[in-house]
Amino acid sequence: MRALVFDTTLGSWDDTRGFELQDVPEPVLDEKKDPTDADKVLLRVHYAGICGTDRGIWNRAAFRDQILGSITAEGNTRRILGHEFFGEVVALGSKASALAPSPLIRGVPRSSEEGVVAPLKIGDFAAPESHVVCNKCFQCLRGEKHVCTNEKILGISHDGGFAEFVKLPAHIIWKTDTSKIRPELGAMQEPFGNAVHAASKVPLQGKTIAIFGLGPIGLFLILVARGLGATTIIGVEPNPISQEMARRLGIDYIIPLSPRQKDTAAHHRDEAVIKKIEELTEGLGVDVSFEMAGFNSSFNNCLFATRRGGDMIAFGIKMGDFVLENYNRFIIRGITMHAVIGRRLPETWEMTQRLFSDTKNKIQENIWNIILAQGKDTILSLKDYTKERFEEMMAKHPKILIEI
Ligand SMILES: NC(=O)c1ccc[n+]([C@@H]2O[C@H](COP(=O)([O-])OP(=O)(O)OC[C@H]3O[C@@H](n4cnc5c(N)ncnc54)[C@H](O)[C@@H]3O)[C@@H](O)[C@H]2O)c1
Ligand SMILES: [Zn+2]
Ligand SMILES: [Zn+2]
Repeated sequence: MRALVFDTTLGSWDDTRGFELQDVPEPVLDEKKDPTDADKVLLRVHYAGICGTDRGIWNRAAFRDQILGSITAEGNTRRILGHEFFGEVVALGSKASALAPSPLIRGVPRSSEEGVVAPLKIGDFAAPESHVVCNKCFQCLRGEKHVCTNEKILGISHDGGFAEFVKLPAHIIWKTDTSKIRPELGAMQEPFGNAVHAASKVPLQGKTIAIFGLGPIGLFLILVARGLGATTIIGVEPNPISQEMARRLGIDYIIPLSPRQKDTAAHHRDEAVIKKIEELTEGLGVDVSFEMAGFNSSFNNCLFATRRGGDMIAFGIKMGDFVLENYNRFIIRGITMHAVIGRRLPETWEMTQRLFSDTKNKIQENIWNIILAQGKDTILSLKDYTKERFEEMMAKHPKILIEI
């Protein structure tokens, strides 16, 4: 089958770039050979999304140790990439059906047995949670699976979905009702869930918020935060394409980032941005700020834009140290900082599916029309993949999909 991979035999991590299109063996379910296949599902992938994480892997700027370490531990030489995808269930292990999570959304048919959700079956459409949690560690056992000690991540430390078929544990498979969620958006439940999780950390009703970084997840956050009642939404973003999308998604103010002064330390906050946010908030700063870019200067901008007693949500990822400017000010102003990783299981998936399924909020419509530009130049068929074409599309669009 066709798949996009990182292949250790083609060169070292640092000397290579991009994803390789290869013909790789198709995964099969064979419980006689591997009894753990009883708990697994085979998915035929239809759409897969590209996000900041994939850009990091493409440029060899992130996830080096996790990818190389896990490939070596498996005794393998390649990793099939991709963690955001959607497809059709084509085979089920003997115990898999009962292990898939229950999509408790309105309108999903339940079985006749009270309280038992219709079990997963061949022909169902589904999307996986990208964090394969262990269900056994301290956090998993107390309902905090999003911070599982032993997790593997699809497309990083477990083979992913940039492939025609993928074998996955049933407990991460979220059945998706295609009469309510269009397939292209089915593949975006995972990153949209990130925005849902970030927006659920503190109440947003009646709040003034600022979003630093309007990549796909920052853009989704505009829609979720508005739906949860945020009254004023300010965005900080350097890319004019993303700024324009944010405007069309209904953001209240955009602060474009100007090129940094050459002599400014890389971690230093941008006073002009903070001053502008103060002007927009009667000198107070915002109630809740979201760092959605993963840069040290953005982290400090976010902190300095938050009002006394406000909340800061840290979501963007970067390896290495960050400098927190003026630590004293952070304490004295009594700011609460939260780190958000992944999606809460199962709550975030349930909320994501409800928000997508509710057509009144126009979330799906806005994502399809604005962020995905109705599929014009944003969806690449896997058979047409070349590195050049892919890079060209990634440069033009914050979000692109692969059709498989
Ligand atoms: N915590 C988690 O669970 C989790 C999950 C997925 C992604 N992430 C991270 O979240 C971040 C956002 O991911 P994404 O998929 O939306 O894509 P992304 O990384 O493409 O988006 C980042 C956006 O920030 C903008 N930006 C760059 N420098 C900036 C600055 N100094 N200030 C403000 N904006 C700036 C970019 O132009 C871009 O639009 C990334 O760091 C990603 O690694 C975290
Ligand atoms: Zn992603
Ligand atoms: Zn665990």
